Amino acid sequence: MRHLLSTRDMPKETILGLLDRADQHKKTPPKPNLQGKILATCFFEPSTRTRLSFETAMKRLGGDVIGFHAADHTSSKKGESLQDTIRIMAQYADAIAIRHPLEGSAALAAEVSDKPVINCGDGSNQHPTQTLLDLYTIRESQGRLEGLQIALVGDLKHGRTVHSLLHTFNHFKPRIYLIAPPGLELPKQQLDELKAHGIMFSCHQTLDSIVPKLDIIYCTRIQHERFNDKIEHAELVKPYRITPELLEPAKPNLRILHPLPRLNEIDPAVDKLPHAYYFEQSQNGLYVRQAILNTVLT
Ligand code: NCD
Repeated sequence: MRHLLSTRDMPKETILGLLDRADQHKKTPPKPNLQGKILATCFFEPSTRTRLSFETAMKRLGGDVIGFHAADHTSSKKGESLQDTIRIMAQYADAIAIRHPLEGSAALAAEVSDKPVINCGDGSNQHPTQTLLDLYTIRESQGRLEGLQIALVGDLKHGRTVHSLLHTFNHFKPRIYLIAPPGLELPKQQLDELKAHGIMFSCHQTLDSIVPKLDIIYCTRIQHERFNDKIEHAELVKPYRITPELLEPAKPNLRILHPLPRLNEIDPAVDKLPHAYYFEQSQNGLYVRQAILNTVLT
C-alpha cells in the first residue's frame, strides 16, 4: 500500500490485514520501529481525534511529527496552492496525513508527493482511516463483519465517514437501514452503488421501529459546516435522537458507534448503557492508525 486515499475498491485482504495488525498492536504495544521517521500532519480543517491519534500513534512507534492544524498559519493564507504546500512537506517528512475541505484534495496531494499520503478527510468524500477503525470496532464488538443489521443515522448526504464505510460493505453484505432528516439523505449515486453490489437497504426518517432488529447503530452529526442553510439542530435530530427509552427494545448485542464529535444526537444518559461503544471506538483509532503507519512507512 503506497497511499491511503479511499476505501473504494480497497481489497478485502488489505482491510482484514490492517485490522489484524491493529489487533496485535492493541494486545501488545508495538516496537518503536519508526525511529527516525517523520509524519507531517497537514490539517486544513478542525480535528481532535484523527490528528491527535495519528500523532500519538507515530510517537508511540518511536517516530516524530511535524505539521499544522489550521491553514491560517501557513503560506496557503498567502495564496500558495495545495500542491506546492504538499510538495514542500514531502521534502521534510516521510509520510503526509492530510485533511482538507475540498473533495479530491488527498488525491491531488498524492499526485505531487513522492511520499505516502494518508487521506484524513476530504470534504464530504472520504475518510478511509476512520472506516478502518469503524470496521475494527464493528468486528471487535460483534465478533464478525459479515451479515450484520446496521443502521446508518444522521447527515448521510455530507457525512464522509458514512460514504467511506459504505464503500467497504460490498465485502461484508450487511442489511442496511438508512435514517436521515429530509434533505440530508444518502446521495442517489451511493444508493445506486449499493443496488449494484446487491446490498439490501431501506430508507427511513425515524429509528424506533427498527431498533429491535439491529446489531449496530452508526450515528453521525449533522455536518452544518458543509451547507449554508441555517438549521435548528435539535429539531432536525429529534426523530432519531438516541435515548435510553429508544433503546429499550434493543437486542443485548446492539452497539452504538459514532465517529464523534457528537452534538445532541445521542443523549449523554446513553453513555453508561452497555450499548454505548463510541469511546472504545475512538480509542481503537490509535491501534488502527499505528497499523496504517507501520504499513505505509516500513
Ligand atoms: C468525523 C469527520 O471529520 O468526518 N470526525 C472524525 O474524524 N472522527 C466526523 C465529524 O466530524 O462529524
